[in-house]
Amino acid sequence: MRVGGTPYRSIFLDEDAWGVRVVDQTVLPHRFQLLRLESADDVVRAIRSMVVRGAPLIGAAAAYGVALAVRADPSDASLEDTLERLAATRPTAVNLRWALHRMDEVARDLPPELRADACYREAASLCDEDVEVNRAIGGHGLAILHELAVGRPLNVLTHCNAGWLATVDWGTATAPMYRAHDDGLDIHVWVDETRPRLQGAALTAWELGQHGVPHTLIPDSAAAHLMSKGEVDVVIVGTDRTTALGDVANKIGTYPLALAAADNGVPFYVAAPSPSIDWQTEDASRIPIEQRDSDEVISVRGLGPDDAVGVVRIAPEQTQAVNYGFDVTPRHLVTGLITERGVCDASGEGLRRLFPEGESAPGSEAS
Ligand code: MRU
Repeated sequence: MRVGGTPYRSIFLDEDAWGVRVVDQTVLPHRFQLLRLESADDVVRAIRSMVVRGAPLIGAAAAYGVALAVRADPSDASLEDTLERLAATRPTAVNLRWALHRMDEVARDLPPELRADACYREAASLCDEDVEVNRAIGGHGLAILHELAVGRPLNVLTHCNAGWLATVDWGTATAPMYRAHDDGLDIHVWVDETRPRLQGAALTAWELGQHGVPHTLIPDSAAAHLMSKGEVDVVIVGTDRTTALGDVANKIGTYPLALAAADNGVPFYVAAPSPSIDWQTEDASRIPIEQRDSDEVISVRGLGPDDAVGVVRIAPEQTQAVNYGFDVTPRHLVTGLITERGVCDASGEGLRRLFPEGESAPGSEAS
């Protein structure tokens, strides 16, 4: 997508063809800054600190982390250790496990001296595939938006950032919005600010603004009220992990949105690329839900009067806080899953109709 008119991907190889460039998402929207990652340790730190975040981008960054590691040391021991360390960075987004499995498959049976080239090639094709998958999701989502169009601006609501910054390009939930805007459809996006880390306010609002998509930022707590007034035509969110039966783990606050949508008759879609489907899990209560530092709830990050990005405390010093990163939306609240192969019911049958091979995916409960 474009930044100041220039097309960018959120991750790409540097000019020397081995260092990896990423957009630093911790300083947006105040600064647009690229960082260079040169080792698996750099990638581990970037994922943990949320310099890179969003399920598909975490997978893509981890893939390059493996390539960087085997470039430095192609031994079996280094490969094993890198896969383990990257897998431990964030627990909920299943794309991470998927990407690492892919890299392991490519590297494991090769002689060490051939591993680096093969891993760079695999990481690059994983990134290119992500772009194509999201473009396709955009096309299927666009058809939904055209069907819902009502001769006035179509109001779409989204949560967190399932935008191009969370993927390699296009985004998942945002792909239909970008496609619709480019197609001349009159759309307007309500952007949930997404406490506590404010990915909606800092990232989604910024992205949409850069692309010229009309949008309005709202506190998370306003979404149900807007729905009750008929001011939301459709909700589209992303997913960090969709179970084999169609339940959806996504950013904390997604589940209450789905409840409010159901109560107000608002269609609730999840943009679900196939790498975020967890064929191994049917029971959603087994999804590991990340718990993050309570400081993220007790403080907010923003631009200070001295033009520096800093953190300010918003609660009394002794106050305890809890910080679950994700929640699970039960499948009966999901109108449909927008995948790269089309839209399906949020159900095991729906998913298997589009992805018959999923049932035999390594480790799936049915395999
Ligand atoms: O904690 P984050 O910012 O990595 O969470 C991101 C989300 O919850 C996104 O909705 C999800 O990863 C899908 S991104 C296409």
